[in-house]
Amino acid sequence: MEYCNVESVQALLSAPPDKVMSIKGLSTDEYILENIISMIKKQKDEEAFYLLDLGVVIDLIETWKRNLPMVQPFYAVKCNPHPDLLATLVAHGSSFDCASRSEIESILALGVSPDRIIYANPCKGISHIKYAAEVGVNLTTFESLDEIEKIRKLHTKCSLLIRIKAPDESGSRWPMSSKYGALPEEVPQLLQAAQTAGLKVAGVSFHIGSKSHNSQAYKIAIEAAKAVFQEADRLYMPPMYVLNIGGGFVSDALCFEAAAAAVNAAVDKCFSEEGRRNLTVIAEPGRFFAETAFTLVTNIIGKRVRGKVRQYWINEGFYGSMMRIDRTSLVESCIFLKCISNNSSESEKNSTLMICGKSNGGGAHTYSSTVFGATCDPIDKVLEDHQLPELEVNDWLVFRNMGAYTSSCSNNFNGFGSTKITYIIN
Ligand SMILES: Cc1ncc(COP(=O)(O)O)c(C=O)c1O
Repeated sequence: MEYCNVESVQALLSAPPDKVMSIKGLSTDEYILENIISMIKKQKDEEAFYLLDLGVVIDLIETWKRNLPMVQPFYAVKCNPHPDLLATLVAHGSSFDCASRSEIESILALGVSPDRIIYANPCKGISHIKYAAEVGVNLTTFESLDEIEKIRKLHTKCSLLIRIKAPDESGSRWPMSSKYGALPEEVPQLLQAAQTAGLKVAGVSFHIGSKSHNSQAYKIAIEAAKAVFQEADRLYMPPMYVLNIGGGFVSDALCFEAAAAAVNAAVDKCFSEEGRRNLTVIAEPGRFFAETAFTLVTNIIGKRVRGKVRQYWINEGFYGSMMRIDRTSLVESCIFLKCISNNSSESEKNSTLMICGKSNGGGAHTYSSTVFGATCDPIDKVLEDHQLPELEVNDWLVFRNMGAYTSSCSNNFNGFGSTKITYIIN
């Protein structure tokens, strides 16, 4: 199939209404769509692909530095380990949060020194701890007596951050505290055990839950962390000096600015000027840097008409990139790219015009549509009762903001694997 009439999205968007069914409500940057159309033209087949916009990542790094100048980011590799994303973060001075031996290996392979890595997994396998000791990754988190015992035996040079349960995870889409974090009443015993084991407890760590829209959760968690600093003083331990405020940040400007303001104010309130001079504040953002930088472009590989309902199959889905994506995000971010044969003149015969839009924009007739993922599992459903115009096999559905916990969570169910192609733009 050829897409030859429209060379730029600008032309596409200014094409006559009968040629462009639904452009109103289109929030995607023309720039991104332009790139997607040009990638589709280049594609030999119908494979789904990602578009990674490194300019977005660089802007976000700048935004971080502007709003949280005293907080060193340790990018959470688990969120999206795409090599170009990691390389960009390395080049702009980020440090890294790794959760396993293989993540540590991938970051060291980029030439990052081990002191720019935190092994931020409170429960680590023995062979993984041995590896961290071997390569000199000397900062980790803990929250249990058993973890202290393993580290005492295997990695005595390792400094520890005690991970506490964040007291408030309201407003976060993916809470963590049912699994992680020491309870306040467990803290004294854990600190004493680490001390007795001869290990250095450098500070405190928490995570307020991923995709948080509640900036006050940072304030409450920093206050709880401060209480642990005080508990260490009460136990005559060496002064703590690291505060790790975890992840949870979203890149929406207002939300991020509110979170940053809450962090800055809470640190100022909880630590004296002298205390702040000796304090290193770090964070483990994942979603913040990755989410909006990736766009997923999927191909419609199947269609069924059932009365007024349209059903489509795409070559992505739950087991691919969408396991950890909430349905509302998919609905909000979905854009169709339709390819229309244009036989209006002899010279244009067989040429094709791409039209694009959100489901409900423009005046085109739309249908209640279901979009299924590619696997044979009935739970593999991407959209349901979603309004879309009449689409055909080989049209495309585009999903924005698909960089966080997408490809890194995918598996090979039914042999489909994850979307492998990523085109990079700057
Ligand atoms: C320990 C730890 N740090 C950081 C992150 C990154 O969180 P986010 O992507 O919400 O910033 C996670 C996410 O699971 C995590 O478990």
